[in-house]
Amino acid sequence: MEFNNLIYQKQGEIAVLSINRPKALNALNEELLQELNIAIDKICVDKEINVLILTGEGKSFVAGADITQMQKKTSDEARNFAELGMKVFRKIELMDTPVIAAVNGFALGGGCELALACDIRLASSKAKFGQPEVGLGITPGFGGTQRLPRIIGEAKAKELIFTGSMVDAETAKNIGLVNNVFEPDTLLDEAFKLAKKIAANGSLSVKYSKAAINKGLQMDLDSAMELEKDLFALCFASEQQKEGMAAFVEKRKPNFK
Ligand code: CAA
Repeated sequence: MEFNNLIYQKQGEIAVLSINRPKALNALNEELLQELNIAIDKICVDKEINVLILTGEGKSFVAGADITQMQKKTSDEARNFAELGMKVFRKIELMDTPVIAAVNGFALGGGCELALACDIRLASSKAKFGQPEVGLGITPGFGGTQRLPRIIGEAKAKELIFTGSMVDAETAKNIGLVNNVFEPDTLLDEAFKLAKKIAANGSLSVKYSKAAINKGLQMDLDSAMELEKDLFALCFASEQQKEGMAAFVEKRKPNFK
C-alpha cells in the first residue's frame, strides 16, 4: 500500500501503520484521514493480519487535527470534517483486529482522540497527551468528549478538556490513559512483543473478546451477558477451540491456524 501520509508495513501477522507527515507533527488533514480510511479498510479484509500497531514518524504521534486547514472552515465544513475523523476512528475502534497505539510523542487533540480509539495504548516516556482544543476556541471534534471520560473517568476528563493542559506519559499512565510507558528507543519493540503475545492466541477468540468488550460496554449488563454467551458458544464451532483444548490436554503448545 502506497500513501502520501502513511507508511504501511506488514511483518507476518502484525501490521504497522505509521502516520507520516512529520513536518506538521503528523497533524491530521483531510487527505491523511482519507488515506487512513483506505488503509484501515484494506487491513480489515486482510485475513493474515491479527494485530495492528499505529504509530507516528518523527517526534510526534499526532499533534491534532490540522489547524491551518480548519482555520477558515464554516460550521457546515467543520461538521463534515468531524464526521470524517469520527468515521475513521470508529472504524479503528470496531475493526475485528486489536489495535495497539505506540504513542511516540505528542498525542494532542485529534491525536489523543486517535489513541483513545485504539484498544491498548503504549507510550514513549517522551509522549505528551492532551485535548488543547478549548485554547483554539473549539471543542474536541473526533470523539474526545466521549471516549476520554469513558476511559479515564468524568472528573479527570473534564479537567483535561476544560484546562487544555498536556500531561506527560507517567501521568497518563497514572490516570489510566495509557497501559504502559517505555523508553523511546524500545517503544516499538515493546509494541511488537505485545502484538506477538496477542497473535500467539486463538485469533478468533481475541476478535470475539474485542467485540464482546466494545459492544457489551454500550449495552445493559444482561444484554451484554447474552452477547458474551453467544460469542462463547460460537468459539466451540471453531477449529481454534478444538486445537486450544486438545493442546492443553496433550500438554503441548497450541498451533492455531
Ligand atoms: N495543525 C497544523 N500544523 C501543526 C499542528 C496542527 N495541529 N501542530 C503542529 N503543527 C506544525 C506547526 O505549525 C509547525 O509548522 P511550521 O514549521 O510550518 O511552522 C510544525 O508543525 C512544528 O510545530 P512547532 O514548531 O509548533 O513545534 P514545537 O515543538 O514548538 O511545538 C506543539 C509542538 C506543542 C505540539 C505545537 O506544535 C502545538 O501546540 N501544536 C498544536 C496542538 C493542538 O492544538 N492540537 C489540537 C488541534 S485541534 C483538534 O485536534 C480538533 C479535533 O479534536 C478534531
